[in-house]
Amino acid sequence: MLQFKSKGLGKGKTETLAIPVCEGKDLPFDKITKSLVTMAKRLKEFKGETGEELILYNPVGVKVNRVIFIGVGKLEKLNAESLRVFAGKAVKKCIKMGLGELLISCPSELHLEAIIEGACLGNYIFDKYKSEKKYSPLKSISFLVEPDTDEKLLEQTVAICEGTMFARDLVNMPSNDKKPEQFTNLIIDTAKKEHLQIKVLCGSELKKKKFGSLLSVAAGSNSDARLIVLDYNPKGSKKTVALVGKGVTFDSGGINLKPTGHIEDMKCDMSGAAAVAATLVAASKLDLKVRVLGVIPVVENMISGNATRPGDIITSYSGKTIEILNTDAEGRLILIDALSYAIKEYKPDTIIDIATLTGACVVALGMKMSAVFSSDDTLAQSIVKSGEKTDERCWHLPLFDDYKERLKSDFADLKNIGGPGGAGSITAALFLSEFVGDTRWAHIDIAGPAYIEKGHDYCGVGGTGVGVRLFCNLLKGI
Ligand code: BES
Ligand code: ZN
Ligand code: ZN
Repeated sequence: MLQFKSKGLGKGKTETLAIPVCEGKDLPFDKITKSLVTMAKRLKEFKGETGEELILYNPVGVKVNRVIFIGVGKLEKLNAESLRVFAGKAVKKCIKMGLGELLISCPSELHLEAIIEGACLGNYIFDKYKSEKKYSPLKSISFLVEPDTDEKLLEQTVAICEGTMFARDLVNMPSNDKKPEQFTNLIIDTAKKEHLQIKVLCGSELKKKKFGSLLSVAAGSNSDARLIVLDYNPKGSKKTVALVGKGVTFDSGGINLKPTGHIEDMKCDMSGAAAVAATLVAASKLDLKVRVLGVIPVVENMISGNATRPGDIITSYSGKTIEILNTDAEGRLILIDALSYAIKEYKPDTIIDIATLTGACVVALGMKMSAVFSSDDTLAQSIVKSGEKTDERCWHLPLFDDYKERLKSDFADLKNIGGPGGAGSITAALFLSEFVGDTRWAHIDIAGPAYIEKGHDYCGVGGTGVGVRLFCNLLKGI
């Protein structure tokens, strides 16, 4: 449970208090916190440098069992991310010590959101598949704030972080427990609780409606494909934003089978779908004013006698034909049918897809940055800005028209890869652009940050839930 506390420290007994400490000039704290910071800084070994930690037990003058001081560096360099890191560190430290509750001193309302985010996300543990649960999340995290602080900030920030954690749960789940039907049910169950409108198209309907590209990816799997549409449609909304998320519950590569080293983590290939589903759930909790649609194609990319072969030509939902030159470039094949369908059925003002689309994106930008492509510079800029605010960073990459040449096929309207010549992420985005017409569109490639091999201060190893905080920030501004 997360709550605000404004009573002053003196009244009750506090088990653990955490304080962010700046090197040099201090943060603007209440009187008691200030005196504790002075006490800590008197010690030679603690200056408030980034990463420094100090614990004082039963300091005189306050009823606190232990105070954890964590350095956050110079005040001039302090930003939201250093506060997320601070709060995540404090929570993780308490979890490791086997404690149950924590109180965090918050300098001012300006710093609050980031501290809540770091604490809430740092308290996430995925141990569903462990027989022995070594660590438990903290039962209670309180934030020491000014008396009149608006509770809404806490509620909204927690709602968004719950979205991120829902997405992490979905990503971390192994592929044998999230085959398309199961994955769909997991999403539906959560969406129902938030009273979202839900529509699911399954195998036979998809066939009838001619989702040829989506179905070509699912062909090798024993599990049928799905297309989920979640609809958050508040009264009086003037704009519609459609979000489309890649939901490949496992990407073996198909007949272009992935080699060892690239295949084990491919349970994460539904991270875009998870981000979209979780954003829809959060949108409802946040009471957003804009209509948001979540369009989620779900398939498993497997090999069998029925699998699509390299060289096959398929007809997409749009009617355009595609020569499949590589069955591992499957994400774009499911996205184009979802994009075409969403545009045709719902005519959104803006459509944004999010996907673990290309390894090339990881090569270009690494693990801590997504790529954003758009037909509309203003939309791309807004996404980049939301990325900066949430630290779900995005880099705007170009859609060069002349690179489209590389997607021309000798036998069909298009081929699904650009062939040699590099720029794999750009050609993937250009492929998608062929299916959005004039609709204001952006594509976000999250292949890098969706899944991490090594945890950090407010995210454990595995799924990060990237995209949820980014989208929520973006939608709040629309
Ligand atoms: N799911 C992968 C992309 C990926 C790579 C996601 C690394 C997360 C981490 C995608 O379906 C894929 O296999 N893309 C191919 C495209 C290629 C065949 C043109 C790739 O990037 O190698
Ligand atoms: Zn693939
Ligand atoms: Zn994939």
